[in-house]
Amino acid sequence: MSILVTGGAGFIGSNFVLDWLGCSDEAVINLDALTYAGNRENLVSLKGDSRHLFVKGDIGDFDLVARLLNEHSPRAVVNFAAESHVDRSIHGPEDFIQTNIVGTFRLLEAVRAYWSGLEGEGKGGFRFLHVSTDEVYGSLGLGDPAFSETHRYEPNSPYSASKAASDHLVRAYHHTYGLPVLTTNCSNNYGPYHFPEKLIPLVIHNALAGKPLPIYGDGQQIRDWLYVRDHCSAIRRVLESGRLGETYNVGGWNEKPNLDVVHTLCTILDEFSPRADGKPYREQITYVKDRPGHDRRYAIDATKIERELGWKPAETFETGIRKTVRWYLDNQAWVQNVTSGAYREWLGKQYGETK
Ligand code: NAD
Ligand code: TYD
Repeated sequence: MSILVTGGAGFIGSNFVLDWLGCSDEAVINLDALTYAGNRENLVSLKGDSRHLFVKGDIGDFDLVARLLNEHSPRAVVNFAAESHVDRSIHGPEDFIQTNIVGTFRLLEAVRAYWSGLEGEGKGGFRFLHVSTDEVYGSLGLGDPAFSETHRYEPNSPYSASKAASDHLVRAYHHTYGLPVLTTNCSNNYGPYHFPEKLIPLVIHNALAGKPLPIYGDGQQIRDWLYVRDHCSAIRRVLESGRLGETYNVGGWNEKPNLDVVHTLCTILDEFSPRADGKPYREQITYVKDRPGHDRRYAIDATKIERELGWKPAETFETGIRKTVRWYLDNQAWVQNVTSGAYREWLGKQYGETK
């Protein structure tokens, strides 16, 4: 038995593959296009492990996906592959439309063809799990209840709009063709192997490099932080026992304003790796121009997945964030490798940093 994972060299996908093979002997076929966000180094501990087959390729390549499905007969597909960074979607939405919408469509088509040819238990037990985001629900006011699975879709960025479109396609393939799909919509993840273009790894990286810690706008935007390993366990649980055609919201019950997150990171860094001049890292905080269309608040109501599937996160923000900072301090070689080259161009474009 095996599963096909897409985007398994990215942040969440690689954590998922490592987690999966840590608790099961079921092989993983890992299809990833290795964009700027994909990194085979995340998977270096699997070198020589016959349970992991890495294939460089695009989810939008119907022939390739069809061949992989027919050759390996996986019992499930877990789709992480996406363009995932809101700020990049503002600078250039095209790749988001291509991968998140067209790519998901082609992937669904290949999976539908494969699944249609299955019989008996193979067909009945097959699952397509689509990994999505809370950002499809739009932005909450301070007093609003957290997003439930029935919240209206109101995406505000090219990224969230493209993910919303992919969610709708997945839903339609269930209702129209009977494809056995599951969708998870989760909140902001953090943890090991997080590419330092996103808030938490960017702040850790910049703090240690003596660079400004950029806060968009007033820093009072709220996100609901989920430790990546908790997200992985939620996906395993939904894959195992989720009801077909259903969506499950996955969150950490950890709503925090961005400024609080950055203050927490600074305090932990003061403890784990104090500045040479003895001053606090907070002094590096800098307010910068806000993101256009910046969503004010995301919050996930994760009661459905707890009630139906008995899942809840194991980490609090306080425990998960300390593990995360420790991981970055212990893996500076990984950070150095991912922050060379194209990453510098991104900093120039987004923050006006010169080399
Ligand atoms: P990521 O950007 O770190 O990784 C994406 C991976 O997909 C990369 O390895 C990349 O090479 C690969 N990829 C991109 N385009 C591809 C294509 N056309 N074909 C094959 N592979 C391709 O993203 P992530 O943070 O790991 O997110 C994974 C999934 O989870 C995404 O679908 C994202 O929308 C969703 N999600 C992420 C978060 C978060 O906080 N990071 C929150 C909610 C949902
Ligand atoms: P990010 O990690 O990009 O995730 P998302 O946009 O998907 O929520 O950003 C998290 C929050 O941090 C978001 O409100 C934007 C903010 N932010 C900053 O204030 N400064 C930064 O340099 C970055 C990258 C994000």
